[in-house]
Amino acid sequence: MCGIIGCLGTGDVTQMLIEGLKRLEYRGYDSAGMAVIAQDGMKVHKVVGRVAELERTLPEDFCGPVGVAHTRWATHGAPSVVNAHPHLDSKGQLAVVHNGIIENHRTLRSVLESRGCVFRSETDSEVLAHLIAHYYQGDLLAAVRQALRDVRGTYGIAVISTLEPDVLVAARNGSPLIVGVRDGGLLVASDASALVAHTRDVIYFEDGEIAALRADGLRTVTLEDLEVSKTVERIDWDMDRLERGGFDHFMLKEIHEQPEVIRNATRGRLLVEAGEVKLGGITLSNRELKKIRRIVITACGTSWHAALVGEYMLESYAHVPVEVEYASEFRYRRPLLEPDDLVIVISQSGETADTLAALREAKERGVVTVGICNVVGSTIARETDMGIYTHAGPEIGVASTKAFTAQLTVLALLTLRLGRLHYMTPETSREIVRAMAELPVKVERVLEHAEEARAAAELFAVTQNCLYLGRGFNFPVALEGALKMKEISYIHAEGYPAAEMKHGPIALVDKNMPVVVIATRDRVYDKILSNIEEVKARGGRIIAVATEGDREIRRHADCVLYVPETLDLLTPLLTVVPLQLLAYYAAVARGCDVDRPRNLAKSVTVE
Ligand code: F6R
Repeated sequence: MCGIIGCLGTGDVTQMLIEGLKRLEYRGYDSAGMAVIAQDGMKVHKVVGRVAELERTLPEDFCGPVGVAHTRWATHGAPSVVNAHPHLDSKGQLAVVHNGIIENHRTLRSVLESRGCVFRSETDSEVLAHLIAHYYQGDLLAAVRQALRDVRGTYGIAVISTLEPDVLVAARNGSPLIVGVRDGGLLVASDASALVAHTRDVIYFEDGEIAALRADGLRTVTLEDLEVSKTVERIDWDMDRLERGGFDHFMLKEIHEQPEVIRNATRGRLLVEAGEVKLGGITLSNRELKKIRRIVITACGTSWHAALVGEYMLESYAHVPVEVEYASEFRYRRPLLEPDDLVIVISQSGETADTLAALREAKERGVVTVGICNVVGSTIARETDMGIYTHAGPEIGVASTKAFTAQLTVLALLTLRLGRLHYMTPETSREIVRAMAELPVKVERVLEHAEEARAAAELFAVTQNCLYLGRGFNFPVALEGALKMKEISYIHAEGYPAAEMKHGPIALVDKNMPVVVIATRDRVYDKILSNIEEVKARGGRIIAVATEGDREIRRHADCVLYVPETLDLLTPLLTVVPLQLLAYYAAVARGCDVDRPRNLAKSVTVE
């Protein structure tokens, strides 16, 4: 959840560290810090708050050719200067930045304290600095390796020491770590976005690997001290894609990128003329695919909502039974899995700790696993047996938007692929393929009406609670709309299947309660109108998401946000867009920090 970066160069690396931290800030931002090895020893600077504050308060003489930096999202110990990273050993010769959780930190701490180490912070991470110093005998790589053998937990770390100023040691276990190779030095970071300003040549690390970075290259070993040879890969992001491109916030930019995102997710996969799909990443033969008796989809948060839409799509159109599980539950409840099951894991980042653990659980049981990930080369993408990238590009806004539509697009493609093997006729397939090809233009049409969402958001300016209702394919969209609202505007929002409202939540409805209802024209339209009437009868304010051309709905709703007509299984790709805009504008109206909502981090790499 934190962001780490380390740089090793020939000149001063301070500015490079600051720039990298700014790019990583979406992963955690309650405090920040950095350390460099200067001519007169280790220099450390830490602040509570944002990277901008770190930069503003940096002492003038803060410079050096080797350094590490960190932006924190607190797990152990409150956000404070002492708890901010880097952490130092007792002599102040060694500095460590850490992303992850050291589970046995209490035991290690009491052993180290009994040997005279002086701890300054309440964090689990500080034990790493003391432990590495304890093992140091002239070789930093060896000391880190030995220390990590005592550690239980997850980590991505970068370590520097004044005793070996020409080396930076990095290691990973369960937290991402990437090395960037550039002219004049090496960089290491928890996320490629911190590297792309300097290089697109990267090296990915596997769990249990430790590397010593030097000006002339790097040496990688395992925890057992076996040499590992690494290859340099090229990432295809560029800087433009990481900038806000004229939008006030990354979230708004990413909402507006969705037409292009759908085009990218379908490019080369949607064969419109033939009415077919091609998914190169799915390496099972038709015979093997036909043998699948059940699909289990596991994910967290927004990706879990996408999984729920996937369940509706796959069961309705591919006639394969589907179960959707929170990854955090799946990993611990010893779920029943059969050899003919297929497990799909969905993750934007490809690094979510619970989703990764669920994937490993499924693999341990010998079930075939498919990943639907956005970040190329992420751990989940690499560990699944096969997969389909969503190609949404880097998602920087903490609230996920374009990743969701890309996931839905991929799930629709998978539905077509499996459906054609079972009961789906070529006509139905052609109809869905055509409708998918029209989606980007339809999303553009929804975006043209962003002003209406802004006006509707005024209803949320002072409210503390709201309700989201939907049915069928749009029930998970109601959940997703509510999640977006609570994440960035801090309004308490609940999503429900519309008919469930009568079984409890209706008690909350009064004249102060905005109720967002997804009421597109489909086979449950009349039922939804009845649900709307039930809210109106109790004075609730209705914001309806409806199908273009539906005038009737205006008689029932206080505000209507229209979306173009499409096939029922594809409506979530349209109906979610006004809900994203609604949450965005409500948060802006309430003065919230949209791209960095409180208490949240972009990638939840701890349990
Ligand atoms: C919501 C959000 C989170 C993520 C969840 C899973 O806006 O961003 O709920 O969807 O943490 O993350 P990934 O998809 O990276 O596994």
